[in-house]
Amino acid sequence: MNIEQDFSLKPYNTFGIESYAKYFARFGSIAELEECLAFNQPATNNLQQPILILGGGSNILFTQNFEGLVLKNELKGIELVKEDAAHVYLKAGAGENWHRFVQYCIQKNLAGVENLSLIPGNVGASPMQNIGAYGVEIKDVFHSLEAFHLQDKKTVTFNLNDCEFGYRESVFKGKYKGQFVITAVTYRLNKKPSFNISYGAIAQELETMGVKDLSIANISEAVINIRKSKLPNPAEIGNAGSFFKNPETDNEQFVQLKEQFPAIVGYDLHNGKTKLAAGWLIEQCGWKGYRKGDAGCHGKQALVLVNYGNAKGEEIYNLSADIIASVKEKFDVELSREVNIV
Ligand code: FAD
Ligand code: EPU
Repeated sequence: MNIEQDFSLKPYNTFGIESYAKYFARFGSIAELEECLAFNQPATNNLQQPILILGGGSNILFTQNFEGLVLKNELKGIELVKEDAAHVYLKAGAGENWHRFVQYCIQKNLAGVENLSLIPGNVGASPMQNIGAYGVEIKDVFHSLEAFHLQDKKTVTFNLNDCEFGYRESVFKGKYKGQFVITAVTYRLNKKPSFNISYGAIAQELETMGVKDLSIANISEAVINIRKSKLPNPAEIGNAGSFFKNPETDNEQFVQLKEQFPAIVGYDLHNGKTKLAAGWLIEQCGWKGYRKGDAGCHGKQALVLVNYGNAKGEEIYNLSADIIASVKEKFDVELSREVNIV
């Protein structure tokens, strides 16, 4: 175990924000994780430090230095757990790169995650906010996960219902925040694909690609093409994907908004609520393409805040607060942040 001190997190967050961890270590096994936690005990360190588990750093905004111990999850491995007539169950280490796991499934002709291609980050964070894109969420292929309780030092298994998955939510982002390290996730993949091209842009892209016979490989390619055309590549411009969630409103308010703003984008959730496109709301408030210093609102996707180089986390955060205030004022709709603020 190698504990680094005053460690720069700039290469470890896709926003590219400069922030320092008081202590930083990597763990590639549960034993190494336990060693790191032992370092953090009052006896060896006088004071127990706050702990932050880091995956790919693609859904996090550092607004200050982290005065504690950052633990970078590097648990690797993909193993076949079981197989039945319809499914294959694969268990992946939390430190596996998510898109590489998707590619692995596609190569093995296992369906279910192709619509989630090219989402940055690691397997371990996929249940944190029930990652989703193009009509699919992780809950649709989730079987179970293993998580290590930081205080009890015991591994606990969570099944689907235990995770209380919602739109960009789970118990790990909610009531158990900061309590567990997710160490492995088991997914239930389908031997026989049921293609999901309900998200309009996919069908359109498949047509542009000239695809005649659907396959999980070409759906993945279509999703990759769409994502590359819309979302900034963090290797070029710092960002963490959608900064805000798409807000829900009750149908009555939506009808009123529609009268006032006929072009407003909303999707009926069939439960008395409508989901609004936050990107549209933000664009209407004039933020799309806005830049102040190195903090900005992306020119092709207003839901994505960006760091053009040397923005401070605080500047990105302040911009997000201004956006929330202006959307509230114009539409009386409250945006909430998707990105984890540290
Ligand atoms: P990190 O940013 O490292 O961590 C996120 C949070 O989870 C932090 O609070 C961290 O403490 C915690 N955490 C991480 N790993 C563990 C663990 N093993 N145990 C316990 N806690 C942990 N998300 C979507 O849902 N859909 C999208 O389409 C999408 N598109 C994106 C596009 C771009 C360009 C970018 C930059 C981001 C996008 N995201 C999207 C957000 C992000 O990719 C996902 O949320 C991803 O799952 C984050 O993974 P990570 O490993 O980078 O997590
Ligand atoms: N829109 C605008 N202006 C904009 C951006 C979007 O008017 O600047 C409108 C679009 O025209 C479209 C609607 O908003 O009618 C939805 O846009 P898009 O299809 O780009 O999706 P999104 O709602 O902005 C969500 C997720 C993404 C996910 C895509 C595809 C959230 C918060 N975001 O974005 O997830 O990849 O759908 O499924 O739910 C992420 O979570 O980080 C993320 C990137």
